[in-house]
Amino acid sequence: MSNDAIVSAIKAALQSVTIPGGGALAGYGGLSEIIVTQNAVAFAISVAPGMEAAFGPSRTAAQQAAEKVSQGRKVMVSLTSDRNQAATGQAKAQGRPGPAPREAVPGIRNIIAVGSGKGGVGKSTVAANLALSFKAEGLRVGLLDADLYGPSVPRLLGIEGKPAVRADGIFSPHQAYGLEVMSIGSMLTPNQAVVWRGPMATSALRQLLRETQWDDLDLLVVDLPPGTGDIQISLVQSVPLFGAVVVSTPQDLALIDAKKAMDMLLRTEVPILGIVENMSYFVAPDTGTRYDIFGHGGARQAAADLDMPFLGEIPLVMAIRETSDAGRPVVVSAPNGPEAEAFRAIARQILASAPQLRR
Ligand SMILES: Nc1ncnc2c1ncn2[C@@H]1O[C@H](COP(=O)(O)OP(=O)(O)OP(=O)(O)O)[C@@H](O)[C@H]1O
Ligand SMILES: [Mg+2]
Repeated sequence: MSNDAIVSAIKAALQSVTIPGGGALAGYGGLSEIIVTQNAVAFAISVAPGMEAAFGPSRTAAQQAAEKVSQGRKVMVSLTSDRNQAATGQAKAQGRPGPAPREAVPGIRNIIAVGSGKGGVGKSTVAANLALSFKAEGLRVGLLDADLYGPSVPRLLGIEGKPAVRADGIFSPHQAYGLEVMSIGSMLTPNQAVVWRGPMATSALRQLLRETQWDDLDLLVVDLPPGTGDIQISLVQSVPLFGAVVVSTPQDLALIDAKKAMDMLLRTEVPILGIVENMSYFVAPDTGTRYDIFGHGGARQAAADLDMPFLGEIPLVMAIRETSDAGRPVVVSAPNGPEAEAFRAIARQILASAPQLRR
């Protein structure tokens, strides 16, 4: 059976799952998109706060019903009372609590992660320029590089050496372009990452997060490692996330990976703030002609298919690469150019849908 056929079979199976108050889960408005990958099935049931226990039996029944038709795929059904509200920023407006506070980090009001299903899609570039864009919108912002496979934030922001450590062992973050910055890179020696296991990675991240003197930040942007393995899952679970931004290139392959990343976030109940399409199109510097070399628009379509917000497109431009390599990201080195504007528009869109991120 194809993945689409499995989605249909699950929808049919959910017709026989009842929900509190009567009716079938299949027709319930709080049922998320059903995501089917080669090995996994994931969907979420979002319920009004306080209704979690009442929906417990429906979740169990949905899990069993989906397993019967999923041909051996691992089925993950999450039950959440705030995923959608938090993602659209309505939680506060409606007087409801935001995402479950996993254990707040002193000095930081909210944390968002930037993730991708695979490497090299420009995740770090987007994370750094987005952090600078939030700063330009007036927020107090930090950037945490949690990518233990290839920490690149120090290069992107021109930071060298280890952060200062106070007498009591607490880190003082690096400062760059008005951001407070910490990188897991400063805790690793080169090539060490290959032997890291989930628990070590999580404890290093935990230490970076909680043993750093963050100075009253509105927002910390976390550059996650690429991929959706155990390390990513344990990292995501160890950090109290407001939400996540998924970066993809327009190619189909990267999109499949982006869907995997969303699948993982869905499973871990992290609200997805939306998808960014990076290297979306190429504008020839000499003629100004636009080329859709990767088949532009794939991420926008994927976002629509998955019913996720589409946050915007970043063009493939030499200036983005050169400024990143030089440690002067385009949002600060050419703040009035079209590339900076592309990043800033994404930050503004996130703030518009989640105004509680502002002070
Ligand atoms: N929009 C863009 N235009 C031009 N070059 C880009 C763009 N986005 C990223 N790049 C370049 O592509 C390369 C990969 O980007 P980056 O390091 O941000 O990706 P990543 O997803 O974080 O990779 P990794 O998986 O290694 O962490 C870098 O050289 C970067 O400068
Ligand atoms: Mg990176």
